[in-house]
Amino acid sequence: MIDVGGDGRVWLLSGTGSSYALRLTERDELLHLHWGPRITLADAEALAAEPLPGHRGFESLLDGREEYPVEGGPRFVRPALTTRTEAVRGTDWVYEEYQVHEGGAGGDELRLHFHDPVQHVDIALHYRLRTGTDVIERWATLSHGGGDRTAPVELLRADAAAWSLPVRDHWRLSHLHGRWAAESQLARTDLSHGEHVIGSRRGHTSHAHLPWIALDAGDAGEEHGEVWSAALAWSGSWRIAVQLLPDGLVQAVGGAGHDDAGLVLLAPGESYTTPVFAGLWTDGGFGASSRAWHAYQLAHVIPGAEQSRPVLYNSWEATYFEVSEAGQRALARRAADVGVELFVVDDGWFGTRTHDAAGLGDWTPNPDRFPNGLKPLADDVHALGMQFGIWVEPEMVNPDSDLYRAHPDWVQYQPGRRRTEFRNQLILNLARDDVRDYLWQQLDTLLHSAPIDYVKWDFNRCFTDAGWPGDPYPQRLWVDHVHGLYALLDRLRAAHPGVAFESCSGGGGRIDLGILSRTDQVWTSDNTDPLDRLAIQDGFSQIHPARVMAAWVTDSPNEQLNDRVSSLRYRFVSSMAGVLGIGGDLVKWSEDELTEAREWITRYKTIRPVVQHGELYRLRPPSEELSAVQYVRGDETVVLAWLRHQRHGEPQPALRLRGLDPAATYSDVATGEVHRGAVLLHHGLRTGLRGDLDAAVFHFRRN
Ligand code: GLA
Repeated sequence: MIDVGGDGRVWLLSGTGSSYALRLTERDELLHLHWGPRITLADAEALAAEPLPGHRGFESLLDGREEYPVEGGPRFVRPALTTRTEAVRGTDWVYEEYQVHEGGAGGDELRLHFHDPVQHVDIALHYRLRTGTDVIERWATLSHGGGDRTAPVELLRADAAAWSLPVRDHWRLSHLHGRWAAESQLARTDLSHGEHVIGSRRGHTSHAHLPWIALDAGDAGEEHGEVWSAALAWSGSWRIAVQLLPDGLVQAVGGAGHDDAGLVLLAPGESYTTPVFAGLWTDGGFGASSRAWHAYQLAHVIPGAEQSRPVLYNSWEATYFEVSEAGQRALARRAADVGVELFVVDDGWFGTRTHDAAGLGDWTPNPDRFPNGLKPLADDVHALGMQFGIWVEPEMVNPDSDLYRAHPDWVQYQPGRRRTEFRNQLILNLARDDVRDYLWQQLDTLLHSAPIDYVKWDFNRCFTDAGWPGDPYPQRLWVDHVHGLYALLDRLRAAHPGVAFESCSGGGGRIDLGILSRTDQVWTSDNTDPLDRLAIQDGFSQIHPARVMAAWVTDSPNEQLNDRVSSLRYRFVSSMAGVLGIGGDLVKWSEDELTEAREWITRYKTIRPVVQHGELYRLRPPSEELSAVQYVRGDETVVLAWLRHQRHGEPQPALRLRGLDPAATYSDVATGEVHRGAVLLHHGLRTGLRGDLDAAVFHFRRN
């Protein structure tokens, strides 16, 4: 709902449990008023009437209060927008009008229009309140509104939004940092004066940070307290800067782009739309914040989220590059036998890709390995009752490939300089129309050549030499590569609506709301160790739902990982927290292991609707010896518990469950044992876990 007051200069957006208010001053400054619990329009108008502190010689009254701070005028904060023409740098806008679009697709939207008469830039600020949520999606559209003979305008930086926080004595920042094989590690740190900047300068979302922040006044816990959070929908380089200003105000600006030295050059008539920077205020702690983010993504971001994801088998860890039709068939038979629903052939099926130094770019089946193409194997997999999937890495090329030999200029490179190789590969310039057309044609042909149901789309190196010789404004490739990727994915999805896509980037290097709006699940991490995974999955769950979190059971001990020995039980329960998959070498598994795997997969299918579509409660974090998560959906609840290490004589804590009816009783679906809701809520569930690396699944149904 959007209310307008204050003679058309105060706006109030109200979601299911929160409100957001802003106002325009008589000098056309757009100031923030409120982001928190529900308030009325009269409250917002009263806030708007409060006098502002006056300018002092060394401070600006605007800093920390503006909805979209621009460079120019009396401002010293990090700006959201920096523009220049040859003659003039910075923005000075005039307000034009507002528009309210209620009942539009996905939510109500407020648009505020401004115009800079000197640079001829039209600026539209968008606020869309997503239906049934408290998520406000904010973005900006910058257009060159001048005539043919006016100068082009360079957007040195154009962020999506600035989020302002209320005044509190103290602030704490939560964020997710990491690296390859250790993504999405949750960190919580007190905010001190100055800036805390997270982001990626690598051309993809990156393993180093997920584009998400949460702020609380230092008093929130897992299930209590106010939390302000924001997430960017962008899969390239990005930045979120959280600023604690001299007078205690806090503001976070965020958007796409590599640095401040040039993002887009707008000729007359051209425009740039920033990605969405979505914000959410919740009461009820970090748990409630996560559940609200999950509900938003399931309802508004992830395509077809109401459908459950199948149990997957992936051949990578079993075969690496030793791919053969017979070998894949043998794995597929075993996979079908244990209950797998989707069989995926990973890297090594195409071109001359028998190792990682050749073949990327040539998306036709290797004639020695698949002499009749992929169709015979895909048909066999279908005959076994499974869907069929393949791995691709379309944005990349090995110099040892037919594609690179034909088009060495199709990659990103700096003229006259060495082309840096990572994993023996270079990056194709997806900002180029001819490159996108080639990839479209290759992938469309591939998807027509065999009954392929699933594509794992990988991206295995960062940008380094991001040049584009011959283009008048080469640095545009930082954003246009991502636009090219999105366009290619959108076109493939539209032409092949039955094909599901997974986003992968050496594990979890490209996970964000942008890629999630055009993929069906994501590969969480190349680290498949079941204990290491708990921390990665805990971090992932802060923002993204289990419905997209792929998790495989692999071999143990695993020389590719850390050689840790863990039971099949422990590995399965760890992977059952998301979209279950198997990545071990099933051909080597014993009859006993296969029988046990079959039982776990059967079990997973009974709890899957609750795990993939339920509400998540983190009962105890993975930093504890005993950790657990709970999912609640309607009358059913599932608890997954993991014990790292038991000390002799030390009592095990009971798990106090959440989201149950205290007046109801619940039956254990496996054993029939009856539990009282009030006892589970107030006294807890005894897990009976023992020893090292033990784990259990509980599935209760309300009577
Ligand atoms: C990346 C992925 C792996 C696997 C390999 C194949 O590292 O994260 O899962 O697909 O590429 O080369």
